[in-house]
Amino acid sequence: MKPIHIGILGVGTVGGGTFTVLKRNSEEIARRAGRKIIVKMIADKDLQKARELAGNEAVITDNAHEVTCSPDIDIVVELIGGQTIAKELILEAIVHGKHVVTANKALLANHGTEIFAMAREKGVIVAFEAAVAGGIPIIKALREGLTANRITWIAGIINGTANFILSEMREKGLSFNDVLGQAQKLGYAEVDPTYDIEGIDAAHKITLMSAIAFGIPVQFDKVYTEGITKLTGEDIRYAEELGYRIKLLGITKRVAKGIELRVHPTLIPNKRLIANVEGVMNAVVVKGDAVGATLYYGAGAGAEPTASSVIADLVDVTRMQTADPMHRVPTLSFQPDLLSDIPVISMENVETSYYLRMQVVDKPGVMAEITRILADNHISISAMIQKEASDDSDEVSIIMLTHITIEKNINAAIKHIESLPVVTQQVFRIRIEELNK
Ligand code: NDP
Ligand code: HSE
Repeated sequence: MKPIHIGILGVGTVGGGTFTVLKRNSEEIARRAGRKIIVKMIADKDLQKARELAGNEAVITDNAHEVTCSPDIDIVVELIGGQTIAKELILEAIVHGKHVVTANKALLANHGTEIFAMAREKGVIVAFEAAVAGGIPIIKALREGLTANRITWIAGIINGTANFILSEMREKGLSFNDVLGQAQKLGYAEVDPTYDIEGIDAAHKITLMSAIAFGIPVQFDKVYTEGITKLTGEDIRYAEELGYRIKLLGITKRVAKGIELRVHPTLIPNKRLIANVEGVMNAVVVKGDAVGATLYYGAGAGAEPTASSVIADLVDVTRMQTADPMHRVPTLSFQPDLLSDIPVISMENVETSYYLRMQVVDKPGVMAEITRILADNHISISAMIQKEASDDSDEVSIIMLTHITIEKNINAAIKHIESLPVVTQQVFRIRIEELNK
């Protein structure tokens, strides 16, 4: 059978890994795909880098439009990143009737609806396994493997850089900035690392998974996003003392009022498998009504793990391209005209439990005042520790865990507690997920 010709846009970390793995495993991949997958063209701004990678094996250009418009290319693999030139190139490839494989979660979370609609109109596939959780085939699992289930929730460690930072801080006591530098050197971090540490990258990924799990449109503007930059070594230690580990989680849940969609640091009981996922590894727990909880684990970033997902998509597209568009696996798992308008609920209405750290003056009546405020807001305490004041201070840290409550109640309680003269710093809150139902 005639080989499939692909053009790779951008041969940085992921593009370089994709070329290398395709070359190394070409025979095996061809046996799976039913035909050879040949890199016919490469576009990169850095021609020398592209030549060092591919030698004379592909046509090399610094003008990516030559690839997206070339009649010789069947599949365009977009691995440049960002939302400007990448969007232009993907739309151009689609207009020229080419299938697209991309790892660009930022682009799809923000412009997926437009891109998927254009692909549908042109009868081509846009595949994006590598956009979520690096090498873990989670899109395939959600879209195909779990298709019998009514999915109730997903919780995932879906940013390798943030997990690497939290692990190194906890295990080695290293500083936030030192670890971030290491993650950048290892090629894990986004070009703008604030995407990793402020939870934006995880928000892109949970948006895509939520759409696939619940059959709703891609709605990045509705995600509540909080990163890891305010976490201290102190909180990591207190959480350990209470039997929890802090992870940056992407969470989406089907609840009575709609869909929860959120990213924030989260205390997870340390006996859960996902609490023990360390370093750049990612893990996603999916709860379905028929199957129960399933866990997917693997490298969440890096050249070859991500290439593994890019190439899985290439093989899928190669196998599917002869299928009539109506009978292909739908991009968001549900048939496009059967998406649901179930709302994403506001953070104020999310129900969960909380870790609260308060810095207070150590004098009689303070604890009583705080617990009264919590009770007035219908918040019940499940555990508490008070740390002794150091010799040169009259202040103590109080750490409380609450039972489940509504976010707006905890907001009101925190506001009231912070207004007390004996409370000397802002109350620090981390949400808790038991992940057991
Ligand atoms: P890199 O920055 O390593 O690679 C991007 C490449 O594209 C660079 O070689 C860059 O060249 C080149 N480039 C930039 N602009 C153009 C252009 N106009 N035309 C042609 N080439 C261009 O990024 P990554 O490989 O890390 O990421 C690529 C995509 O994969 C992103 O969407 C990212 O979010 C996603 N991703 C990354 C993962 C990872 O582990 N790194 C994991 C999962 C997804 P130059 O360097 O000269 O600017
Ligand atoms: N910067 C991302 C991460 C790359 O650290 O997880 C993988 O999407």
